Amino acid sequence: MTKTITMIEDLRILAKARVPRMFYDYMESGSYTEGTFRANTDDFARIKLRQRVAVDMTNRTLASTMVGLPVSMPVAIAPTGLTGMQHADGEILAARAAAKAGIPFTLSTMSICSIEDVAKNMDRPFWFQLYVMRDRDFINRLIDRAKAAECSALVLTLDLQILGQRHKDIKNGLSAPPKPTVANMINLMTKPRWCLGMLGTRRRYFGNIVGHVTGVMDMRSLSSWIADQFDPRLSWDDVKRIRDRWGGKLILKGILDPEDARRAAETGAEALIVSNHGGRQLDGALSSIVSLPSIVSAVGDKIEVLMDGGIRSGQDVIKALAYGAHGVFIGRSFLYGLGAMGEQGVTLALDIIRKELDTTMALCGLRDVRDVDRTIIARTPEPFN
Ligand code: GLV
Repeated sequence: MTKTITMIEDLRILAKARVPRMFYDYMESGSYTEGTFRANTDDFARIKLRQRVAVDMTNRTLASTMVGLPVSMPVAIAPTGLTGMQHADGEILAARAAAKAGIPFTLSTMSICSIEDVAKNMDRPFWFQLYVMRDRDFINRLIDRAKAAECSALVLTLDLQILGQRHKDIKNGLSAPPKPTVANMINLMTKPRWCLGMLGTRRRYFGNIVGHVTGVMDMRSLSSWIADQFDPRLSWDDVKRIRDRWGGKLILKGILDPEDARRAAETGAEALIVSNHGGRQLDGALSSIVSLPSIVSAVGDKIEVLMDGGIRSGQDVIKALAYGAHGVFIGRSFLYGLGAMGEQGVTLALDIIRKELDTTMALCGLRDVRDVDRTIIARTPEPFN
């Protein structure tokens, strides 16, 4: 099987066949018209690289750092909600694959496996992503739980105070676990591997939330829970308060505008992530890769600039680095692997991206990923651009 999987798109196709429709759709959706979701990948495809020849391509290295921590390549696993619904125990499996590959794994607040559960099943620290909710006690407890689990960075998401509508989630009646409706049962009958995995695990609810918030035992409707719980008043003062309580490395996720990037740099956070939430929030926003250069010029010497959105290959990674990202996050690219083949699929996705990045870097005439800069970008002559 793995011999026929040579690119991330192969994993997507397999994931589509194996993951129940509501969870595949949840992952593969953008908000509203999905224009920004598509722009994230389309804009990468428009960038052209300079081919260089007759340069020594031996002894190449992809090793770098992200927020000062060593990484085997400048790629981290992004926080994604409901990862444990793409495959049973998904967060633990993906965290293990990331640890083996020498890259960071970020656990979402909206994960199925809890912080404590992932920590218990890992011998390496991971990163934790935090949403700001109205219940400040719960937020404080989440921060303290992430500290107790020795998470090595906190990723604070700033672009989801309210939820951009994803049509398919409403039409599919998205919930974790799925409701036993006739339509769901018919769909689940075509996903025997997924069902078997789920029967073999007790991790089927939002592990960080159920049992930790008074009155919440079961979160049947994700969107109404977000509407009730997420804090639409989130401010830069809250960011500072969270920074002080956390006290460790802080990464601010969801910056798309140079003005906001300047505010983010003033908070003293280690890094920001140029992100439009995978095209899942403001439909009509610029793609992440198009937003990146202006943010790098606004704050690139004051805060580490990372990015996510649209990365489906090692070529995309090098393009982001060329435009000034210090590192990138992948969301869907690892989820395709997870849905397709569990831990092995995530490992495969990371291997694919690593090899593509390495070969592309060499063909651009470079041997050290830390040397990648704007000079590897080709200018398209007038009549063709
Ligand atoms: C949550 O992070 C989502 O985008 O659904």
